[in-house]
Amino acid sequence: MGERMLTAEGLTKEFAPEIRVIEDMSFSVERGRSLTIIGPSGCGKSTLLYMLAGLSRPTAGKVLIEGREVKGPSREVGMILQDFGLLPWKTVWGNICLGMRIRNVPKDEQDRRARDIIRYLGLEGHEDDYPSRMSGGERQRLAIGRALVMDPSVLLMDEPFSSLDTLTRERLQNTLLEVREQKGLTMVTVTHSIEEAVFLGDEIMVLGGRPCGIRAIVPNPGAGGMGYRSDERFFAVCREVRRAVEGL
Ligand SMILES: Nc1ncnc2c1ncn2[C@@H]1O[C@H](COP(=O)(O)OP(=O)(O)OP(=O)(O)O)[C@@H](O)[C@H]1O
Ligand SMILES: [Mg+2]
Repeated sequence: MGERMLTAEGLTKEFAPEIRVIEDMSFSVERGRSLTIIGPSGCGKSTLLYMLAGLSRPTAGKVLIEGREVKGPSREVGMILQDFGLLPWKTVWGNICLGMRIRNVPKDEQDRRARDIIRYLGLEGHEDDYPSRMSGGERQRLAIGRALVMDPSVLLMDEPFSSLDTLTRERLQNTLLEVREQKGLTMVTVTHSIEEAVFLGDEIMVLGGRPCGIRAIVPNPGAGGMGYRSDERFFAVCREVRRAVEGL
C-alpha cells in the first residue's frame, strides 16, 4: 500500500445544530492517486471539498495531509471551485499570477511559471483577455492553470467540466491525466457524470443519504490510460457505479 496523502477521519459538518449535512466520513487517497466523487445534487459534495481544502472547518473529525491536520488553506492544496472563482476584473495573466503574488513569489519566477502554464494549456495569445470574453473551455483551462501554477501536491476540483461539450471535456480530462502523471499529483474530483468519474478516478466514491455518507467505494484498476474510454473494463465499472447511484 502506498503512502497516504489525504485522509478524512470521521468528518462531520453541521451548518446549524439541526442541519447535519455530512456525517462521519472516513477515507484516504494515496499519493499520486485520483479519487472521484459522485452523488445527487445537494447531498454535500461541495461542502466536503471545502473541508478537504481547509476552507471550512468540520464540526467533528479531521482532514490530514501527509499526516498533518489541515487547519486552514495551504499552498500544497489547489482547489478549482464549482464556478471557477476567476476574478472578472483581472486578465488571464492577472488571474494566473494572483496566487503567486499573494505568496510573494519573486516577479521573474512568476513570469516564468505563468508563461509555462499558459503555453501548456494552450492559452497563448489570451494573456490580456478578461474571463468574460473567453469561451467556457478557455475559462476552464484558466482555472486549471491558476491552480497548477502554484505547484500543489493535491488538486481538488468541484465539477470542473460540467459546462463543456463532450469533445472539449474529454480533451481537458486527457490534459488532467497528463498533468497528474507528470507531477505525481493527488486528485479529488467531484462530478455529476458517471463516465467522467470512471475515466478520471482510480476509485469512485458514491455519496448519498441525509445526512450524507459514503454509500460505496468502487475500485477502478484499469483507469489512467487515454484509451480507457473504449475499454470493456471501463463500461463494466460505469455499470457498477450506475447501479450504486441508482440504488441510493
Ligand atoms: N453555508 C451553508 N449554510 C446552510 N446550509 C448550507 C450551506 N452550504 C450548503 N448548505 C446545504 O448543505 C447541503 C449540501 O450542499 P452542497 O453545496 O455541499 O451540495 P452539493 O452536493 O455540492 O450539490 P451540487 O451537486 O448541486 O453542487 C445543501 O442542502 C445546502 O443547502
Ligand atoms: Mg456542489
